[in-house]
Amino acid sequence: MRNLVLALIFMASPAAMADVAATYAGMCASCHGAAGAGDGPAAVALTPKPANFSDAAFWTSRDDATVKKAIKEGGAAVGKSPLMAPLGAGMSDAQLDELVAYLKTFKK
Ligand code: HEC
Repeated sequence: MRNLVLALIFMASPAAMADVAATYAGMCASCHGAAGAGDGPAAVALTPKPANFSDAAFWTSRDDATVKKAIKEGGAAVGKSPLMAPLGAGMSDAQLDELVAYLKTFKK
């Protein structure tokens, strides 16, 4: 049974990564850029500019809980621009954690 559970987890994780990549591409990349550099096509029209997830300083200046809160409740909830909408309001806690982990893959 334990091996079955482990096998299922093993099989599920690449799919989960594919899901989170699709979520990012569909909901975030237009502003934050395909590689997370804050340079998506819609970014030109925005002030302030969307956060740059490839910038290591972004990750040292805030914790995961703040990043998660910004996605779930919007930029205004963490003292940032309301142009960052509460896009994660309908996501589960696990989905939000996955998204935060995914954003970190852009870090250089
Ligand atoms: C309409 C454009 C737009 C879209 C779409 C968008 N964002 Fe943002 N986001 C912004 C802007 C603009 C900021 C910068 C706010 C600021 O610095 O005041 C931002 C900031 C952030 C921040 C940083 C908050 C902080 O602590 O500084 C996170 C995290 C974030 N966005 C995640 C996401 C995720 C994940 C998605 C997709 C689910 C997404 N954003 C979609 C525009 C967007």
